[in-house]
Amino acid sequence: MYPKQVSIFEVGARDGLQNEQPVTCQNKIILIEDLAKAGIKRIEAASFVSPKWVPQMADSGDVLRNIFRQTGVTYSALTPNLKGLELALDAGADEVAIFGAASETFSQRNINCSIDESIERFAPVIERAITANIPVRGYVSCVLGCPYEGDISTSEVARVSEILYKMGCYEISLGDTIGVGTPTHSRKMLEAVADKVPVDKLALHFHDTYGQALANILACLETGVSVIDSSVAGLGGCPYAKGASGNLATEDLVYMLHGLGIETGIDLPLLAQAGNKISQALGRTSGSKVALAITP
Ligand code: HMG
Ligand code: MG
Repeated sequence: MYPKQVSIFEVGARDGLQNEQPVTCQNKIILIEDLAKAGIKRIEAASFVSPKWVPQMADSGDVLRNIFRQTGVTYSALTPNLKGLELALDAGADEVAIFGAASETFSQRNINCSIDESIERFAPVIERAITANIPVRGYVSCVLGCPYEGDISTSEVARVSEILYKMGCYEISLGDTIGVGTPTHSRKMLEAVADKVPVDKLALHFHDTYGQALANILACLETGVSVIDSSVAGLGGCPYAKGASGNLATEDLVYMLHGLGIETGIDLPLLAQAGNKISQALGRTSGSKVALAITP
């Protein structure tokens, strides 16, 4: 049985734009406001990471300070450490996210520390955020494969997910960072994690590099998972696979979910317009097949 409703966690303005050519702060603000108008309730709008590592996100404070905030919408930000958290709190993030990995090498390359060190580093971030009444989401990367190590064991994914959940993350987002997963593998991985973390506290975050993301999500939906991350217009690339696409396009996800009779609360034509506008600003066509099909 599929869930009646799915909550979409829109990551285009962060995961998408962190991997695209830089756009202006105003372009980002328009995108985020358009997403809210289309009915998206959870928007990852910013990332307080080192601007030397990800220059595209350097204006995150200005973005969060200048967006018109729609009631009922959560605007969140990535915060890898206490410095990022303080910047996010200052800029008025409603929610923050820490991001770890199930691969040692990826952890080193992405956040410059081992998995164990990252967990030590996240502890005060979670503690401080919870004291400030700010919910913390946890990401686990490389849940279906690593660009450096190849196969990743599902038990390691489950282990790291359980640690982050027990530390106080209200939801764990399982990232197929390089989009290599296939349906049966995805489902087995999710079931292994769901043995340790309640399935209603899990989210799927599938990149679409190999065109498998929709199939993987469909294979997972029967387990009861009902939170899915996606990126409008399929924004984003992948630094580990040249020419690759980004996250699954939100328009394609919404089309499939509505076709299955699953509610999302999202207006698909408005969403496609939002994606087309930011694609135009980037000088590219939308990465969503649905947006291409429904745009006159
Ligand atoms: P580090 O070099 O080990 O950190 O980087 P450090 O504490 O030694 O600081 C070095 C410099 O960075 C210092 O500046 C700090 O002030 C500055 P300097 O003295 O050299 O001028 N710094 C910061 N500046 C702004 N904001 C901060 C911050 N922290 C330190 N928060 C660090 C460690 C984590 C900072 C670095 O590795 C980093 O920024 N990594 C982020 C990488 C990233 O953003 N990756 C993409 C997001 S994750 C993702 O996309 C996966 C996901 O989508 C899920 C999936 O798909 O699997 C979530
Ligand atoms: Mg991602």
